[in-house]
Amino acid sequence: MSDAARLMAEDPHGVGAALREAGPVHKITLPDGSAAWLVTRYADVQAALVDPRLSLSKRHAAPGGGYRGFSLPPALDANLLNMDPPDHTRLRRLAGHAFTARRVAELRPGLEDAARQLADGFGTDGPVDLVDDFATPYAVQVICRILGVPEESRSGFRAWTTGLLGTGADAEEMRRIVAEMYAFFVRLIADKRARPGTDLLSVLVTARDADDRLSEDELMSLAFLLLFAGYENSANLIASSLRAVLADPELRDAVVAGRTPVADVVEEVARHESPALLAIRRFAREEVRIAGTDIPAGETVMLSIATANRDPRRFTDVDPDAFAPERRDLTAHLSFGQGIHYCIGAPLARLEAEVALRVLFERFPGLRFDDAESAEWRPSLRVRGLASLPARTGAAPG
Ligand code: HEM
Repeated sequence: MSDAARLMAEDPHGVGAALREAGPVHKITLPDGSAAWLVTRYADVQAALVDPRLSLSKRHAAPGGGYRGFSLPPALDANLLNMDPPDHTRLRRLAGHAFTARRVAELRPGLEDAARQLADGFGTDGPVDLVDDFATPYAVQVICRILGVPEESRSGFRAWTTGLLGTGADAEEMRRIVAEMYAFFVRLIADKRARPGTDLLSVLVTARDADDRLSEDELMSLAFLLLFAGYENSANLIASSLRAVLADPELRDAVVAGRTPVADVVEEVARHESPALLAIRRFAREEVRIAGTDIPAGETVMLSIATANRDPRRFTDVDPDAFAPERRDLTAHLSFGQGIHYCIGAPLARLEAEVALRVLFERFPGLRFDDAESAEWRPSLRVRGLASLPARTGAAPG
């Protein structure tokens, strides 16, 4: 990793702010050695997110232009985050069947159930790691329930996701995991086709618009994307929200007493920490000028959601570096993207985090840090996530 990238991975907010204030566009070297343009300020990031000249399809990467990236087998790569219209429009419409407001609201009891089951496992004033013992298994449970992954397959599921998302697996190991997951999804989808239930995969298997439906590859890719897009970011949003509340005893009391809405805390954490630090990489289809810099066709553009979310040019109400769930422009952040690729799971992610915090603070009003010092962030350019969050539950589960 280049020095700038390493520094940014270690301190995304500090180094990010310095870059944003030094200039709106920077040429950087990504961890794989390839070059990219980093866009740092709110107005430019927002405009670039909706700019059709910036493509998500690898077809527009310049040959030999340096873009590398992790490629999935074709049967898993036909996903929304690698596509432009019209393919994207069609797939997004079909996937949208599974994410209507009504469908998401119906998930609430299942989410509460998953959070309660985990809280039931915490002992009296038990030391718990709210990342490993709560946020991560909860996010895995939730996405498995939603996708309709049977209970008995979930432990393998967690091992796969940890393997793919962690840093320990080498290329050989990655290929093995992907092959296993592929085989697993083939069986699961065949099963849903034979015996459709009410879960999201069943909805997708049967989703149709007029004569249109998802092909087998599209279904597989979408299931894969939902799993990865849905799991890591959500777990990080939840753990970061818990950290924000525990870090401030007054805020914790206000949350427990219902004076500060949990939903506002979650929304402000989404802005302040930015679970997805960067948007998905984009490729310039033609030469594109951003804030006075000409970006040649085919080159890679990275949009820094995290630095945009703390840009003082946009957030003028309260200091953007401050955590302030009472701010007026609470939802002005770009944490879920914008435009046609706006996060399809945003309503679910918000509900998931809100339920997790509500259940935990209802059950353990005395929840507190065990060792605030050891609540450390994992170094990453891409995601903002805690490695651990040691806490004490404070009281016997009631
Ligand atoms: C805190 C949690 C989450 C965050 C911060 C987040 C963030 C994002 C962002 C920034 C994008 C846009 C990427 C871009 O334009 O470059 C996106 C897209 C997407 N997200 Fe999320 N996401 C979260 C949770 C979820 C969940 C729970 C799901 C589904 C179960 C999900 C599914 C998707 C999908 C399918 C897309 C692609 C949409 C498209 O291309 O049309 N996300 N997400």
